Amino acid sequence: ISDVREDIDHELISREELDSKIHEVAAIVSKDYAGKDPLLVAVLKGAVNTMAAFAQAVSIPAEIDFMSLSSYGAGTQSTGTITVRQDLSTDVKGRHVLIVEDIIDSGLTLAWLVDELKNRGAASVEVFALLEKPARRTAHVDVKYSGFTIPDEFVVGFGLDYDEKYRNLDSIAVLRPEVYEGK
Ligand code: PRP
Ligand code: MN
Ligand code: MG
Repeated sequence: ISDVREDIDHELISREELDSKIHEVAAIVSKDYAGKDPLLVAVLKGAVNTMAAFAQAVSIPAEIDFMSLSSYGAGTQSTGTITVRQDLSTDVKGRHVLIVEDIIDSGLTLAWLVDELKNRGAASVEVFALLEKPARRTAHVDVKYSGFTIPDEFVVGFGLDYDEKYRNLDSIAVLRPEVYEGK
């Protein structure tokens, strides 16, 4: 293909809808965390766009850091094993941490990370998930800030990939089934 849009079946959430929701959540977070100097932790790679847009929309002083976690590999199903590809550069001890995540599917990635950050001594750990897919949840995660609830379809774009591709699409979309069928 010569254009990532060629593999798209339909758009699920437009860039405008994403921006407006992210601003809405950022306004609430800016109130909730006033005076707390939160540490925003993006879960790479998927949360790259969510973090970029969200951090700019937050109006209070906030630090940002990144942790690269992988559980999907090349498939559309979670492997259940979380691999740390790259760790934080910040000591979270005593910090108010807000995890910024693109999507909660099985919940395994976030259940692991929330636990891990609490074990490292964070003063508090909360979650902002741009997308939630309740149909596939197997692990319990308390999500304080939630963007969109989506149906059980494999979505890409705005940071989300299929086999490392389509992250650079500027909105959330559903791939044409033939792209991943038979894999
Ligand atoms: C995806 C997504 C979330 C996680 C959600 O990451 O970005 O981090 O899976 O799935 P779960 O709730 O079932 O754990 P992935 O492992 O594909 O790595 P990536 O962010 O680098 O794409
Ligand atoms: Mn991810
Ligand atoms: Mg992925």
